Amino acid sequence: MKEEKKIVSVLKGEAVWPPPVWLMRQAGRYLPEYRELRAKTGSFLGMALTPEIAQEITLQPIRRFGFDAAILFSDILVIPMALGFTVTFDEGKGPSVLLGERENGEGLEIRPEAWAKTLEPVYDSLGLVKAKLDDKTALLGFAGGAWTLASYMTKDAGNGSEDQRAAKLWAYRDPEGFAKFLAVIGECVAFHLIRQLRSGADAVQIFDSWAGGLTAEAFADWVIQPTRRIVERVRSFFPNAPIIGFPRATSLQGYERYARETGVTAVSVDTTAPIGWARGLSLPLQGNLDPVALIAGGDALAAATDRILETMRGRPFIFNLGHGVLPPTPPAHVGELVARIRAAR
Ligand code: CP3
Repeated sequence: MKEEKKIVSVLKGEAVWPPPVWLMRQAGRYLPEYRELRAKTGSFLGMALTPEIAQEITLQPIRRFGFDAAILFSDILVIPMALGFTVTFDEGKGPSVLLGERENGEGLEIRPEAWAKTLEPVYDSLGLVKAKLDDKTALLGFAGGAWTLASYMTKDAGNGSEDQRAAKLWAYRDPEGFAKFLAVIGECVAFHLIRQLRSGADAVQIFDSWAGGLTAEAFADWVIQPTRRIVERVRSFFPNAPIIGFPRATSLQGYERYARETGVTAVSVDTTAPIGWARGLSLPLQGNLDPVALIAGGDALAAATDRILETMRGRPFIFNLGHGVLPPTPPAHVGELVARIRAAR
């Protein structure tokens, strides 16, 4: 009989040990083979939206490290693109989302056929990756959370203002208009997740990277409610869809509410959440090694890894970082991390 993929088992509530491991941003600039391809090809978005290249980049870290999951090489900002915004990535400056004639992101419509036109290469990439993966390696799709995407799609915020002030101001001044904005984004996110599951993703992750720094009420209205709606939409097509939620840098109470109220299958916790506290959440967990410990390597990395492993033993758990791999990370440290996790008893 074919054995179930470890990550799929964990997402069904099994305490697989040693735990499966993959890393957010496991493909990217810390890998010389990525940098080489990037230098030849040029644009990041061009690479992400060319299936053969996206396939190759997705598989690079799998070949090197044998992670338990491949996450599709793409970006959360393909959703603003599908919604008609112009997205650019400037070297050293990060992304910017141009609003064109719009004062804010208003005037969006629910137009799945138009979305599909932009997003089709993502689904083609998933099919290409799936064909190359062995039976043990899960394939993950993903999308941004509605709030995080909104914060990139609001006037003056397009190049990632740190406090999401423009989105907050709009939300405070025009709660109804902003709620509609979140709802349309959420529809597009749900569409994208459903299509990724249909294209062979074993599970999907929702990245709400800017979930921190909100009042409790704002967190409920802008993060929990839209996420619950996205989860419901996805489950109306795939009742058992495994969905990992990552409300990065929310408070501990925020994580608890998110775990109870959104309907996600598992929660990914960021670096600052004490892992001993996270153990008490009643669903499968993912996290939360400090990406800087991975740069440091040596004893610091070993100790931080062991602490997480010891705390999570006996729980359904996926080993990951608390945020993405950083560009200065030595690939050898990633190899050491994977070996240490696989040796855990
Ligand atoms: O995890 C993976 O390996 C899959 C691919 C992936 C990327 N971005 C590739 C990428 C995923 C899952 C993302 C998610 C993403 N993108 C998030 C949520 C996670 C998080 O980090 O909080 C966010 C906020 C974005 C938006 C984004 N994309 C930013 C802010 C930047 C610039 C910062 C940076 O690291 O360069 C990107 C660019 C980006 N996305 C790169 C990669 C590999 C770097 C592109 C390059 O310069 O080659």
